[in-house]
Amino acid sequence: MMKQYNNGEFRKKDIGKKYTVYGWVNKRRDMGGVIFVDLRDRSGFLQVVLNRGFLKSDFEVAESLKNEYCIKVEGELIARTDDMINPKIPTGEVELMVENLTILSEAEPVPFNIYEDKEVNENIGLKYRYLDLRREKLQNTIKTRAKITSSVREYLNNKEFLEIETPILCKSTPEGARDYIVPSRINKGSFYALPQSPQIFKQLLMVGGFEKYYQIAKCFRDEDLRADRQPEFTQIDLEMSFAGQDDIITLVEGMIKHVVKKVKGMDLEDFPRMPYKEAMERFGSDKPDTRFEMELKDLTDILRGTKMNVFNNVIENGGIVKCLIVKNNGDKYSRSDVEHLTDFVKIYGAKGLAWLKYDNDTFNGVIAKNLESDKLEAMRTTYEITNNDLILIVADKKKIVYDSLGALRLKIANELNLIDKEKLNFLWVVDFPMFEYSETEGRYKAMHHPFTMPSDLESLATDKENVLSIAYDIVLNGYELGGGSVRIHNPKVQKVVFDALELTEEDIKNKFGFFMDAFKYGAPPHAGLAIGLERFTMLLTGTDNIKDVIAFPKTQSASDLMSEAPNIVSTEQLEELGIEIIKEEEDV
Ligand code: AMO
Repeated sequence: MMKQYNNGEFRKKDIGKKYTVYGWVNKRRDMGGVIFVDLRDRSGFLQVVLNRGFLKSDFEVAESLKNEYCIKVEGELIARTDDMINPKIPTGEVELMVENLTILSEAEPVPFNIYEDKEVNENIGLKYRYLDLRREKLQNTIKTRAKITSSVREYLNNKEFLEIETPILCKSTPEGARDYIVPSRINKGSFYALPQSPQIFKQLLMVGGFEKYYQIAKCFRDEDLRADRQPEFTQIDLEMSFAGQDDIITLVEGMIKHVVKKVKGMDLEDFPRMPYKEAMERFGSDKPDTRFEMELKDLTDILRGTKMNVFNNVIENGGIVKCLIVKNNGDKYSRSDVEHLTDFVKIYGAKGLAWLKYDNDTFNGVIAKNLESDKLEAMRTTYEITNNDLILIVADKKKIVYDSLGALRLKIANELNLIDKEKLNFLWVVDFPMFEYSETEGRYKAMHHPFTMPSDLESLATDKENVLSIAYDIVLNGYELGGGSVRIHNPKVQKVVFDALELTEEDIKNKFGFFMDAFKYGAPPHAGLAIGLERFTMLLTGTDNIKDVIAFPKTQSASDLMSEAPNIVSTEQLEELGIEIIKEEEDV
């Protein structure tokens, strides 16, 4: 091994010996006959001194050094003089007095300074990703990511889980996003799909008798990208036979505690569990951020029968009325601020945002004049409304009320700094509905995926709206970190679920025929879960941008600005695949 030392680890105890040190010129200061270089490597940096009097090699070479040159230096580690000691950096008491300097690689001027902790224009950072990766922020996040995967492996290997890879070129999987497809040259006109998750294969590994499987698995989903979504991402994916919900929850909770201890040195308390229904009612979200209160409060019963039609009509038509009570911060929101909040909830389909302020022991605002005083009084006493409270109300169908107030809750908490950013609030959300109604497709779809075990077979066909599944999500600080379920291992049960999803025999055969066949041969009961590795890393490193935890991420439009993928391919390649590109007519 050429490189023996970590530059950031030299201390006083190492003084008096000679070392050969490698790295990049992070920054240089030329003092005439002496040049100081901060020599950076992955571990930090060491100050090296290029002194005309000491340097055996040509001093002109030292003078030619520029930022980001990659160099090798040999010399003695000495103590810095008192006036040169820098207590802010770990190597601040020592420096290397260089005798020999070798330039290993020169560097052109870099498009942004590596040593500065300044935001770089995102597109430039992505184009020169290999340079951005040299910077401290990305060095830290990528190192944390590696630490997470190594502690996951450590934990699961110890529990007798086997790491098994599953194919990337495969048949469409059932996670519900759009597939990335790959044309086949040998079978012209046929396509592989890239896996949206290893779901089918990991279940087949259970049928295959492996009992405990895991994989740090690449997944591909062609869906609208967000700050916590990438087209290509990684799951900590696991599956276990002869296991149910509690086994998976205990295992995964133990794994998360192990990882957080290794990465952050923190001991976590046991994670609470909350039924889906409760999460929606209290927080308007199936991934509630429980680091702050300001829960949704129900006004449906209080406002039933009011003469105010905006509320009464909704209630009579089966809708609900809920509110957020912004405690002791009413003065922070002017009328025009509240108008902005109204525009915000409209994004989620709400028709409006009614508001009340409570001040000088009275309710103010337009609706305060129209609402019956006994209803106002009931609100005040039920929810302990006090001076300087702002009450924000949405009346609509359940889904719209939850979505809009759930999002508004987070927005206001951020605006008012109500969130303790140091907290890691893990939470299991359990008892998910089996189905959700798709307005666009006009039918019920599986909320998790179609292989999830319903908790009650009887009501499956008769009450799709309310039937629950044995599915669970792990939530951290308002993010869905992962999800899983107990799977159906009995073909008869699977058939009932497919029927409930209105899948035809033809559909089933084409999509999952091979999978269904496997369950004819003694499939063990099994359950599993997958955690999004990027989201986990984001939350443990405190970033809200998923790109910060991926070495080579894609942009919002799913392209790689560095390698310029996706890109055109040659006519020969297309011909081999039997593919012809139909050019869209250009706009005139
Ligand atoms: P699910 O679809 O819920 O479950 O995915 C599990 C976790 O993967 C992460 N995730 C993503 N991360 C980044 N970018 C994306 N586009 C993206 N999509 C999902 C999330 C999510 O919670 N096969 C099942 C798991 C199982 O049942 O065992 C599955 O894939 O953190």
